[in-house]
Amino acid sequence: MNAFEDALHHPADVLAWYLDAGVDEAVGEEPLDRYALVREAQAQRDAEAQALLKDANAGHAAHHAAHSAQTGGVPTPAGRAGPAQVRPSDGGVGEEAMKSAVKLAREAKNLDELRAVLQDFDGCPLKKTAMNLVFGDGNPDARLVLIGEAPGADEDRQGVPFVGASGQLLDKMLASIGLNRSDVFISNTVFWRPPGNRTPNSGEIAVCLPFVERMIELIDPAILITVGGPATHSLLAQQGSVSRLRGRWFTYETGRMSHPIAASAIYHPAYLLRTPAHKREAWSDLIAIKAKLAELA
Ligand code: URA
Repeated sequence: MNAFEDALHHPADVLAWYLDAGVDEAVGEEPLDRYALVREAQAQRDAEAQALLKDANAGHAAHHAAHSAQTGGVPTPAGRAGPAQVRPSDGGVGEEAMKSAVKLAREAKNLDELRAVLQDFDGCPLKKTAMNLVFGDGNPDARLVLIGEAPGADEDRQGVPFVGASGQLLDKMLASIGLNRSDVFISNTVFWRPPGNRTPNSGEIAVCLPFVERMIELIDPAILITVGGPATHSLLAQQGSVSRLRGRWFTYETGRMSHPIAASAIYHPAYLLRTPAHKREAWSDLIAIKAKLAELA
């Protein structure tokens, strides 16, 4: 037995050692393109929505969603990757849950109704392990909506998004361009805390997405900001790292919005806390958001 093996008798010690060494994610034997799973789930949801709403301007009203393209370009439909091979079941999310999410979200006429249907919605497996629904925070008439990744422990306890360490940094970032929580609306790609703060899986994101989209439709902001990778990939339907996508403007629309809105990605504050060297870019993104708000006023 070497010194390492000698020191670590218990599996929990080994896990603690991995955590100390910076390992925060388990990696499987085979590579898995999780972004492709999100796209597939979106395509699946599109198909289901088409079926559900075939009586109401099918092909228009039933049409998801995130059209995105670089500013100056022509918006291209996203989530059109062809028939889904999978994945309503990814992460334990069934087809019925997906259909129900689409239907319930569409029926909500305001944020209070949306919160109420989410409170009763059992289709996202994350609800089973979470303490509270974390719906959203801020101004329902905000011109700026920010969508983060997932609630953490503090958010789960309080039922309010971005109240922990990264939330405090996000507040400071907003304050740096003269904004506070009453100027914006903040939510996440999923409405319940993933156990152990793991990244939400594609099924969990997909089943919450109709509610996130409806939230954006109801608020009808001038600008959507995706905070970190999962929100950027699911809402803007863009692949790649935030470092490659940030600093660009896209357009975002759902089939039920009167017009596309400007959208951009920023680094997640949790990432900035770990890698402060990127704060300079984050600052320039904030300035760009401020300028875009002024431009669209
Ligand atoms: N990180 C997020 O992405 N969202 C929260 O609500 C809190 C931390």
